[in-house]
Amino acid sequence: MTLPVSTDTFRPMNTQSVRDAFRSTFGRAAKGVVSAPGRVNLIGEHTDYNDGFVLPIAIEKQTLGAWAPRDDGRVAFASLQQPGQGVEIDLCEPITPYESAWANYPKGVALELSRAGVELAGCDVLFDSDVPLNAGLSSSASLEVAAALALLTAAGATLPPAQLAKLCQRAENDFAGAPCGIMDQSISVMGQAGHALLLDCRSLETKHVPFNDPQAVLLVADTRVKHDIGDGGYPERRGQCEESAAVLGVRALRDATISQARIALEAGQLSEKHFLRCRHVIGEIARTLEAVEALRADDLTRFGELMYASHASLRDDYEVSCEELDAIVKAAKGCEGVFGARMTGGGFGGCAIVLVRADRAEAVRDAIIAQFQVRFGRDCPIFATHAAAGACVVE
Ligand code: GLA
Repeated sequence: MTLPVSTDTFRPMNTQSVRDAFRSTFGRAAKGVVSAPGRVNLIGEHTDYNDGFVLPIAIEKQTLGAWAPRDDGRVAFASLQQPGQGVEIDLCEPITPYESAWANYPKGVALELSRAGVELAGCDVLFDSDVPLNAGLSSSASLEVAAALALLTAAGATLPPAQLAKLCQRAENDFAGAPCGIMDQSISVMGQAGHALLLDCRSLETKHVPFNDPQAVLLVADTRVKHDIGDGGYPERRGQCEESAAVLGVRALRDATISQARIALEAGQLSEKHFLRCRHVIGEIARTLEAVEALRADDLTRFGELMYASHASLRDDYEVSCEELDAIVKAAKGCEGVFGARMTGGGFGGCAIVLVRADRAEAVRDAIIAQFQVRFGRDCPIFATHAAAGACVVE
């Protein structure tokens, strides 16, 4: 059978292209460009809102924001991904939600920055992004962080990284109505090239763990099954975790043990479903810490086993996978040279990641695409990524 041709449907984008687009949108030159990356999580899924640990990397797909000052006390946001849906804020008026869903992200960020005491300055901002939307790669976090950085730069202000991440998370929780945890914004702000970020989601303490073995390649495979974390499954899982923590008498599931959960199950205090949710979260937190040890020991075989275990737990205990994600992981597992694979992000669609020996990366990519095509009759875009740098002022 013939392999489908290139699956890389993403448009090239760079600082010059976003400057050009700024000029055609606002009729003058941009003063500067900021960038903020999307992410994949290597392991530690659905642990952030349980005060646990996560281990994401920033990816090479990013949101760029070109900006220039204006002197009428207004801020305008436009996006090449949302043509004709630009919005404006009058800095003298209270910032309120707007009917256009995308604009709630940058508007929410503007509101949170002003609440944090930043004196915002008038400016125009144009965003462009090659982070696929609703693919579970944190396009929204990258938009929030790019918006924050553009507004801060225009205002001549700075904020500590953890505060910036929290403020962007609040914008998403309160303004865009998505009850996400702290992982996505943290990695977009704090990512470091060649490193994964071990984040303690309770203390917000971070450690950068080298993730740059030239013998390995990380593939990202997009099921193209779209999921919005404001939809039912994510808030329901969060709720079940909070209910379980209350039953177990702990502040968050991070503080619970599996034997505590089992005793509560046997005593009829935890339902079977709640027990399975606990088993995922407690096991996943332990796997994340073990995965860091494996990376530090250059043991990609062990790291890969933990990825498979994470996927199985998300599929069976947490029930946030889907047929397409399972099929990609299964196809990867059947290929020579694969260390491990798992769904990444919130789930119910989105992307899977595959860690593979560099000399086998292309063959594995082709095999997954072919098997996906046979099973689902459509394309599964796959790209390779390194661990990229976090948000910055590009120029
Ligand atoms: C989404 C949320 C994150 C995190 C993951 C699951 O990506 O935005 O905060 O909860 O799901 O690990």
